[in-house]
Amino acid sequence: MKEQIESIASEAMEKLENVQDMKSLEEIRVLFLGKKGKLTGILKGMGALSPEERPVVGQMVNEVRKQVEDSILKNKNRLLQKEREEKIAKETIDVTMPGTLLARGKKHPLTQVLDEIKEVFIGMGYEIAEGPEVELDYYNFEALNIPKNHPARDTQDSFYINENVVLRTQTSPVQIRVMENKKPPIKIICPGRVYRSDQVDATHSPIFHQVEGLVVDKGVTMGDLIGTLQVFARSLFGEDTNIRLRPHHFPFTEPSAEVDVSCWGCGGKGCRICKNEGWIEILGAGMVHPKVLEICGIDPKVYSGFAFGLGVERTAMGRFNIDDMRLLYENDMRFLKQF
Ligand code: PHE
Repeated sequence: MKEQIESIASEAMEKLENVQDMKSLEEIRVLFLGKKGKLTGILKGMGALSPEERPVVGQMVNEVRKQVEDSILKNKNRLLQKEREEKIAKETIDVTMPGTLLARGKKHPLTQVLDEIKEVFIGMGYEIAEGPEVELDYYNFEALNIPKNHPARDTQDSFYINENVVLRTQTSPVQIRVMENKKPPIKIICPGRVYRSDQVDATHSPIFHQVEGLVVDKGVTMGDLIGTLQVFARSLFGEDTNIRLRPHHFPFTEPSAEVDVSCWGCGGKGCRICKNEGWIEILGAGMVHPKVLEICGIDPKVYSGFAFGLGVERTAMGRFNIDDMRLLYENDMRFLKQF
């Protein structure tokens, strides 16, 4: 019996010495100390021993059990430490390795130009206003002194949701919304998307962008309008840029003008870009019609104002020398990357 216990002990110790992982360690524990384990087996067989032998063998088994248990614990700690070290080694990050470069995006040319425009006007003390793109006929036309059946509607044919609701054809309705809600002094720009049922070509798109401007206060004159547009044109197209006003008609301004800037291609001599005219039209403007002020509850005998509406696409085409508007909407990276 003694020999048997000794051989079990040495077998266990030898196995424990070579154990390499937690799973085998557990198997060894079960093999020797488990319910059906070798040492447990000896204890179960003790009934067959003489009363004198029993305590001796019992003590021996207990000693061996203790020895095996201690060794299991020691090995368990050793293996856990080993596992931890391996895990850490595997998870090590080499911070000196070159990273994956993220492609850097940039703003679309339209957004760039819009930002520039905003900056110029914010610098002159303007606030930014907004209005809905799905607009009431009242704000888009009626309140702007364009009654139903007025010929001025022809050039701004739109997408009608129903008889009273349209996709706005201009940012001018925001003028009305602002004047209804705020008393002068008013000094706002309103950038936004507008819609017209135009055919797509190099200079037209059914969806495009405008920036509306509106100033209302006591004593505002046409001179203020011209000075303001001059500052705008020089900021965007360069210090040598001139502007020119041609008499025009808008139902909501009086007098009204179409405003040209001297050609960014040739400076006014005439070239392919300006079709040899030396000038390029970029916006409509005028003094706010007294009737429009009245509709909004502002007394035209006390206050006057100017308004303008400029095309963002056209400005971007000039700013970046782009000759076809469609390029701005195609999202071709080869094109967009150039700006
Ligand atoms: N809303 C006009 C257009 O789209 C432009 C404009 C704005 C004219 C403000 C005068 C004053 O054609």
